[in-house]
Amino acid sequence: MSETAKIALVTGASRGLGAAIAHRLAKDGFLVLINFVSNEDQARELQNAIQQAGGKVELCGFDVSKSDQVDEKFDWIAKTFGPVAVLVNNAGITIDSLLMRMKDADLDKTLDVDLKGAIFCTRAATKQMMRARQGSVIQISSVVGESGNAGQSAYAAAKAGLIGFSKSVAKELASRQIRVNVVTPGFIETDMTGALTEVQKEAILRSIPLGFLGAPEDVAELVAFLASPVSRYITGQVIGVNGGMYM
Ligand SMILES: NC(=O)c1ccc[n+]([C@@H]2O[C@H](COP(=O)([O-])OP(=O)(O)OC[C@H]3O[C@@H](n4cnc5c(N)ncnc54)[C@H](OP(=O)(O)O)[C@@H]3O)[C@@H](O)[C@H]2O)c1
Repeated sequence: MSETAKIALVTGASRGLGAAIAHRLAKDGFLVLINFVSNEDQARELQNAIQQAGGKVELCGFDVSKSDQVDEKFDWIAKTFGPVAVLVNNAGITIDSLLMRMKDADLDKTLDVDLKGAIFCTRAATKQMMRARQGSVIQISSVVGESGNAGQSAYAAAKAGLIGFSKSVAKELASRQIRVNVVTPGFIETDMTGALTEVQKEAILRSIPLGFLGAPEDVAELVAFLASPVSRYITGQVIGVNGGMYM
């Protein structure tokens, strides 16, 4: 490991968007910490692929929705590798249901992972960033948090909550040169959208002006930009990667 490599932690990086973001940040020279909660095998495969491409990468499994695990892991990261310079809060789940059928446990789980998980990680990472007087936090929200979507009200509440949280924290931390921005992907081809039926996919395609589903790399490029000092004057922003489906 290079002594000078900056640390970037990507939550939920064992697959999907997180894996593409991990690859992209490793290409930019970060030591990337790959977080996952259960898929250690897939995380290891990604670790091997990034290493083969010449990148620096370590595994860092924990459940983002458990604040004690989050605090413990961030302490371990600081002691083992140094302070986190870039945090990408990408871990997320969706448990779809109409409001009338929503179960308390599903609502709790969605808010715990998608909203509170990102808050726990942001709190732990920005403690380290404050001491370093620099940092970039990138939240992976969703177009659904901006536009709403029938059958996804819990997920939309979590993803919209992330926007208000991030703008507040961006204001709190700007004087320490810590930037906090939100990326709102539209429909991107991953396991999460793999569950859609062909009929659902066709309906979605009709709502996307550019006429195709995005790739994880489309999101990863924007994250790499927000992680780099090239974006030093951008904070508190919500930026869509959605083929024009929400403007
Ligand atoms: N795909 C889309 O079209 C789309 C659109 C808008 C927004 N997003 C957002 O983008 C993010 C990534 O989506 P994706 O499609 O790549 O999802 P995905 O393929 O389902 O992957 C989800 C990732 O989150 C991890 N994860 C889940 N619960 C966790 C927890 N409690 N602690 C730590 N990690 C956890 C999973 O780890 P394991 O593998 O260990 O389970 C996995 O790495 C999510 O926040 C999602 O809401 C996606």
